[in-house]
Amino acid sequence: MAKAWFTLNVNDKKRRVKIEPDEPLLWILRDDLDLTGTKFGCGVGECGSCSVLIDGIARRSCRVQAQNVSSGQKIVTIEGLGTRENLSPLQKAFVEHTAFGCGFCTPGMIITATALLALNPNPTREEIIEAMDNNLCRCGSYPNVIEAIMAFTNGTKP
Ligand code: FES
Ligand code: FES
Repeated sequence: MAKAWFTLNVNDKKRRVKIEPDEPLLWILRDDLDLTGTKFGCGVGECGSCSVLIDGIARRSCRVQAQNVSSGQKIVTIEGLGTRENLSPLQKAFVEHTAFGCGFCTPGMIITATALLALNPNPTREEIIEAMDNNLCRCGSYPNVIEAIMAFTNGTKP
């Protein structure tokens, strides 16, 4: 099907991209914009590895049609939270708590946790477990992920 030009707001930059009807946002981010921190896991909305923020809400980019995201909506990927040289506090907490094994699910975990902490700056352990419940980790890093997020339970900004 024919592609059409759209403008997306990604990590505070306006990006012009050609999008096919029904094309998932995930592939625009990875293939067209080279934002490969957003991972392809299941492709059916089950694993959370493709999570990005859209207007502050964690969304599964494999299930979001790119053409349905307006240029007025803010998309934030893991690359938009911090850089290798300047990690965000939440990214640092994941490193400090070794909250990963292979790291494949980690961008999605951090995006989901960022959305949680924006909505609820002082979550309980139970609220963290509930919020992270649908982000899957093949390496079983769940306990350390919870500990990393617990570092923010005094309202510290992620
Ligand atoms: S790749 Fe999108 S939820 Fe698994
Ligand atoms: S750290 Fe390997 S899948 Fe989660």
